[in-house]
Amino acid sequence: MKEQDFGFETRAIHAGQSPDEATGAVVTPIYQTSTYAQDEVGVHRGYEYSRTANPTRTALERCLASLEGAASGFAFASGMAAEDAVLRLLPADSHVVIPNDAYGGTYRLVTQVFGPAGLQYTAAELSDQDSVAAAWRPSTRLLWVESPTNPLLGIVDIAAAARFAHDRGARCVVDNTFATPYLQQPLALGADVVVHSTTKYLGGHSDVVGGFVAVNDVGLATHIAYLQNAVGAVPGPFDCFLVLRGLKTLAVRMERHCANAAAVVDMLERHPAVGHVRYPGLPTHPGHEIAARQMRDFGGMVAFTLEGGEEAALKLVSRTRLFTLAESLGAVESLIEQPAQMTHASVAGSELAVDPSLVRLSVGLETADDLVDDLRQALDGI
Ligand SMILES: Cc1ncc(COP(=O)(O)O)c(C=O)c1O
Repeated sequence: MKEQDFGFETRAIHAGQSPDEATGAVVTPIYQTSTYAQDEVGVHRGYEYSRTANPTRTALERCLASLEGAASGFAFASGMAAEDAVLRLLPADSHVVIPNDAYGGTYRLVTQVFGPAGLQYTAAELSDQDSVAAAWRPSTRLLWVESPTNPLLGIVDIAAAARFAHDRGARCVVDNTFATPYLQQPLALGADVVVHSTTKYLGGHSDVVGGFVAVNDVGLATHIAYLQNAVGAVPGPFDCFLVLRGLKTLAVRMERHCANAAAVVDMLERHPAVGHVRYPGLPTHPGHEIAARQMRDFGGMVAFTLEGGEEAALKLVSRTRLFTLAESLGAVESLIEQPAQMTHASVAGSELAVDPSLVRLSVGLETADDLVDDLRQALDGI
């Protein structure tokens, strides 16, 4: 049986991770080494120097590539380092179309780092093809997609976005951080590149920062591998070990994240202090049907506005006891934040600025009733 014929959970535990050849260790060891002995000049066992390749990183790259249904995968030191590598694929005079609610760090990278070097960009509403068409230029080489988006949980039809880009000779990149390959596999939907912040659900325990790029195309893989080695923004072996360990439980964690998020959404929908709840699982969400088609379930992220505006949002985020006020997302513990002043402060005052009454939840794996009670008591008090 070929590796890709096994189910997702089996591949999460075994892909790229046969017992260690030297010792039989069942768990891939942390190869904490920078260099490798060579028998003769140029004669080695596949490894020369750990910026280029390291066995713990190779195991992670094979496993996560398999979960994304990708031929090749490349681990990076952070999600931003992974995004940086993808943007470096572009010739200097290129134009990219990015979501008008892109993750703030993506927007900052495009506008402040690549912008001065010549990259041009337009932010568009990606759920509206007319908006994408209006943003398109002859020099557009990349359509950058997030789905669900951070922090508004907008949904983009990935298959349609990829077709749109391909018809115009461009490539389609999907940031799959919020969904993870358990809920959504963008390459199978036609995307060319998947990027991840493995810091989030893939690591899953708020104890590591990492990034990933997955591709099928051999030319793209060669170029990304070159950049990974030449630029050198690689994760250390211990960080690779942590992400690899996280992957083994991804499927069961995602199922519980989704179930707990649905329970929280149910309460929020009925609470008078809450304005608009954004969750792709709600039939009233404009992207619900697309999400139901392209995702296995609707994820663990929830966003909502408060009737009492920014003041109420700021009060709420400091009143919860189980939901910890913190940036980041996707781990076992529940987190709450106000994007306008926290995760999305880098887009303040720009066209991507976030409503200050918006609160974002990363619903964790605690007992669902405890999470609902915690939010209810905090909402009752504002
Ligand atoms: C959707 C998304 N993409 C990319 C990133 C960047 O990842 P990292 O923080 O690992 O650099 C984040 C971080 O929050 C994110 O939420």
